[in-house]
Amino acid sequence: MEISASANIGKLKLGVFNELLERKRELTANGKSMIDLSVGSPDLPPPAFVKEEIQKHAAEDGNYGYTMGGLSSFNRAVADFYHNRYGVELDPATEVLQLIGSQDGLAHLATAIIDPGDVVLVPDPGYPIFEVGVHIAGGQPYPMPLMEEHHFLPQLEQIPTEVAEKARMMVLNYPANPVTATASRAFLQEAVAFARRHHILIVQDFTYSELVFDGDAISILSIPGAKEVAVEFNSLSKTFNMAGCRIGYMTGNRQVLQIMATMMSHTQYGIFQPLQKAAEAALIRGGNFIEKQRETYRSRRDALVDSLAANGWEVTRPPATMYVWAPTPDGWSSTDFVFRLMEEQGVILTPGRAFGDQGEGYVRITLVQPESILQQAAEKIGRFLSSSDSGHQFR
Ligand SMILES: Cc1ncc(COP(=O)(O)O)c(C=O)c1O
Repeated sequence: MEISASANIGKLKLGVFNELLERKRELTANGKSMIDLSVGSPDLPPPAFVKEEIQKHAAEDGNYGYTMGGLSSFNRAVADFYHNRYGVELDPATEVLQLIGSQDGLAHLATAIIDPGDVVLVPDPGYPIFEVGVHIAGGQPYPMPLMEEHHFLPQLEQIPTEVAEKARMMVLNYPANPVTATASRAFLQEAVAFARRHHILIVQDFTYSELVFDGDAISILSIPGAKEVAVEFNSLSKTFNMAGCRIGYMTGNRQVLQIMATMMSHTQYGIFQPLQKAAEAALIRGGNFIEKQRETYRSRRDALVDSLAANGWEVTRPPATMYVWAPTPDGWSSTDFVFRLMEEQGVILTPGRAFGDQGEGYVRITLVQPESILQQAAEKIGRFLSSSDSGHQFR
């Protein structure tokens, strides 16, 4: 019997990350050692008190049942965190919703809100689930180009009025993966005004909120009127190195949260209680850890950018996130550059095209390795760039 995917799922291609992983496996099996700077999975552990919290609660027999959603104490911890860090007041009962990671939430939100054919404005380049979630729901992504000359912010006034009028949702992601930009208060105000004018729901992904190297990230919910038109996603994955724990949350517009909660009451039975308690502890007691974590990434960023420059490749110092986003040197296409570099020097980056058409001509480098390894990677990239057979022939 021939079984095929549904029309919506059939449109999805296997991600470039899978292609990279497959090639990495083949090369590793042949004995090549690799430095993997592709996937943004933190290499460091969460704070010790978070691990202790997991152990303590995991030892209790009563903690193995379905949790049926977020503990009210977790929601309160999120509301306090928002108050303390972003000056935003949230009602824990109606304006906070726990998620099995923001990725899962982003995928489900599209299904919960949009109907087949609905237009959704998505950043290009952008984190793949933004567009994929829309495809799964049968919607139509409309790319908003993020160009370097505009500080990687979408030019909202250039979106044709008929598109803006048809759009149901607009996805923003600041601090941004992969482009590393932050959004100013002025831009967020403009986005809220645009959304109100055109009756569009803003979905702001704030996953990198705590990895800003100069100043602080601004929550869109701190913009007056934002709760009427916006929800914000956040996560424990990057802030507290808890990516494998799969816990995050969304905040903001209570109608949207109610719709999501109804949908999730059918699809999910909640997160393992010890992980919820650990996440709660991280939000309440993690202030010092956040500072240290930010310094670690700042120092890794500087080590990588400086070593790349010393090895012949000048790239911009990113203002935020755990990534460097750089134009490919010598006019390489992003995919040719990444695959040749992997084969010749064993360094794995992500081709910009994995994030959308406007990502072509760029590569993303993650900072999820110690400084010494990042420096080794920079030396290998330098050797690759100066080797005789690298360069223009793959344009
Ligand atoms: C922009 C962005 N959003 C969401 C996620 C996923 O976060 P979570 O682990 O909470 O699902 C990532 C992970 O890399 C990301 O870069």
